Order: sequence, then C-alpha cells, then structure tokens
Amino acid sequence: MNPDTIIIGGGIIGCSIALRLAQSGLKVTLIERGALGREASWAAAGMLTPQSETTGKEPLFEIGIRSRALYRDFTDELRDISGIDSEYRAEGTVCIALRDDDLHEFAVCSRAQNALGLRAELVSAEEARRIEPSATPAALGGLFLPDDHQVENRKLMRSLAAALAKLDVGIVDNREVTQIAAEGNRAIGVSCSGELFTAGSVIVATGCWSSRLLSTVGMNLEVVPARGQMLAVKGGLTMSRVLHSSKVYVVPRLDGRILIGATVEYAGYSRQVTAAAMNSLMTAAIELAPAIADCEVTEMWCGFRPDTPDHCPIMGPAPLENLFIATGHFRNGILLAPITADAIKEAVINGAMPAYMDRFNWQRFESKQPMNKSS
Ligand code: FAD
Ligand code: GLY
Repeated sequence: MNPDTIIIGGGIIGCSIALRLAQSGLKVTLIERGALGREASWAAAGMLTPQSETTGKEPLFEIGIRSRALYRDFTDELRDISGIDSEYRAEGTVCIALRDDDLHEFAVCSRAQNALGLRAELVSAEEARRIEPSATPAALGGLFLPDDHQVENRKLMRSLAAALAKLDVGIVDNREVTQIAAEGNRAIGVSCSGELFTAGSVIVATGCWSSRLLSTVGMNLEVVPARGQMLAVKGGLTMSRVLHSSKVYVVPRLDGRILIGATVEYAGYSRQVTAAAMNSLMTAAIELAPAIADCEVTEMWCGFRPDTPDHCPIMGPAPLENLFIATGHFRNGILLAPITADAIKEAVINGAMPAYMDRFNWQRFESKQPMNKSS
C-alpha cells in the first residue's frame, strides 16, 4: 500500500514531522540517504536558547520563543513513547561579559526582553559566578537567562528514531532520493535512482542538501552548508549551565562532557576539522571558563547547518500541489523542530500553515537577493 506521505531526510526536522503525521493517523514513509540523525542534527550543541542567540533577529525570535515553550512536553512525550530520555535540562544560560561592549549589549538586551515579559536578569560578576561557578573571575558582569535551556540532541535523535519505529513509520535508510516525481503540477512521489515510490504528498526535509532536490521540480532556492566545528572535553570541571561569551559557547552534558562551539564557515561540503578552528575555540573557551585548560579533549567534529539568504527557515507548501518544504533552519533547527513539525502537520492535514509561520514561505525569495554570508 502506498504511504500517505513520503518525507525525504531523517534529521530532526524530517523525523519530528514524521512523528506528528504518524500520530495524526497518516501512513508515513521516511527516506534517508545515510542513517537517521547523523548529520547536522547529530553535530549540534542542543541549545534551546532563543533569548541568547536570536534576540533582535525577527522573525526568528518569535518562533524560537514559541518552540522553546513546546520543548518540555515534546521530550516528555518522546520519552513516554520510546523509553529513551533526551536529557532536557532547565537550568538556564549565563552570558558573561568579558569586554565593556558586552555590558552595554546585555543592558540593551535585558531591557528589550523584559519589555516583552521575558526573564533576562542583569547580574554582577559575583552573582554570575555564584550562578555558574566555572565562569571566569575576569568576568565584568553577566546576563542570566533562566528560561534558555538545552537538550542532548544525539539522545533526542535516538529517542525520535525509536518513537517512529513504535508508530510504524516506514524507515528506508541508506537510500538517496534523486528526484521528486511530478505529474503536471502535482507531486506524486519520489524517485531513488530510477525506482519510483508514490505517495499522496512529499515533504522535503533534506537540510543543506535541499537545493539540488528542489531543482528537480524547477525550484531555484538557495540553501547552503554553513560548517560548524566543535569539540568536547571532559574531566575535573563541574558545570550545570550553558555559558556564552561573544566568541564561544560551552555546554555541559550530564555524562561530564563539556561541548565547546562553534565556527560558522562557508567552506562547501568539506568535512575537515581544522587546527585553526580548534585553537580559536579552545582559547575562547578557556578565557570564559579557565578550568577547561586542564580537561582532556575527547572529541572533535563538524556538521553542516542549512543556511538561506536571510538565515531563516523555508517552511510550508511548495508551488507544486502536494509538495511541502521544511529546510533552512540554520543555527536553530534543534530548537525549532517542535514548532516546524506542528506547522507542517497543519499544512499537510488541514491545508494551511499557522499564520505566524507565513513569513517563512519560499515566495519571499522570488525577487532574489545576493546571499550575505554572515550569521
Ligand atoms: P540534517 O540534520 O542535516 O538532516 C538532513 C538529512 O537529510 C540528513 O540526514 C541527510 O543525510 C538527508 N538527506 C539529504 N539529502 C537526501 C536525499 N537526497 N535523499 C535522502 N536523504 C537525504 N540548532 C539548535 O537549535 N541549537 C544548537 O545548539 C545548535 N547547534 C549547532 C551546532 C553545530 C556545530 C551545527 C552544525 C548545527 C547546530 N544547530 C543547532 C543547527 C541544527 O543542527 C540544524 O539546524 C538542524 O539539525 C537541521 O536539521 P535538518 O533535519 O534540517 O538537517
Ligand atoms: N546554535 C548554535 C550553533 O549553530 O552553533
């Protein structure tokens, strides 16, 4: 029997959409070129931090705050279905000022966020170090964001994969979709090297590899890889909150690992981890939390964020009937997975995205701007 929907791409976006559609009673097949959740969704730091990362970046900020509010229930629900806990942690984030400019920026940010009813507390250097003792004694002050949290994204991907299996989603892995199949102005399925799989609707959730696939139905959307390099250290340092400086973030995991990230580089699909990136990340991390200097380096890696010309996602119905797009989540795809999944479910089942998602449609690129490659 043909599925109601084929989802292309088994990252957090494709898997979260599969979850919501399967829960709504649709028969879903998900096709993944490699293994589920091994690309950007594996490489990420798992921060759910719209207040520290997207402030002033409307319209991303609004959906980031909305999606963050869904996260505890999202991870609880997944744990109940899959039996796998994805370590949602609600300790908040501390931004540390290391320069006078940072203090000014924190003051502006806290005023703006407080005015929106969000908690953003300007704190002295002493108070910042009381909240997160691993922060440097050289701190000039801090901004405490008690509602910016984190999740262990690799465990979240395992939890999602197990939940999809429980919900009878058909997983076709190690299979690359080479073309979206269309009849007239209607998507009818996908083709994998000539083999046709038909379905009632098709959803493209292929992260930074989306442009080529969409070009097979004549769409000219720019989604490019923005490489992020990271490393992990371990040992001798107790830390419970995400720490940010203007140069780096540091994310403690429950197993004792401390993640340090990340670069944003436009280097094509090169998977190199470079000495220069590791050097600058480590230097910035030690400046922020000096005890990191004595830790052991346990892992170095990189991943490709899917970036768009305005650094915002592209979500919703495509120009072809029965074709939907969910890509371009750039630096916030972990955070934005629940809201994206709910919205695409609405579009597939009820024919319309929620109004607050309208701004992320593909049509905004119809008069194409040259890409500004900065975060
Ligand atoms: P991916 O996870 O890349 O998944 C796309 C999938 O599609 C892949 O598995 C790929 O194999 C598959 N695919 C591609 N083409 C085909 C094809 N033709 N046929 C079949 N399958 C195909 N976000 C946050 O919210 N918080 C963070 O702290 C954070 N930190 C980050 C740190 C780093 C270093 C990086 C790199 C990213 C970070 N992000 C973070 C961003 C986040 O990881 C991404 O926005 C998100 O993972 C994108 O999810 P995705 O499912 O669209 O893409
Ligand atoms: N959101 C963290 C990153 O993209 O590096």
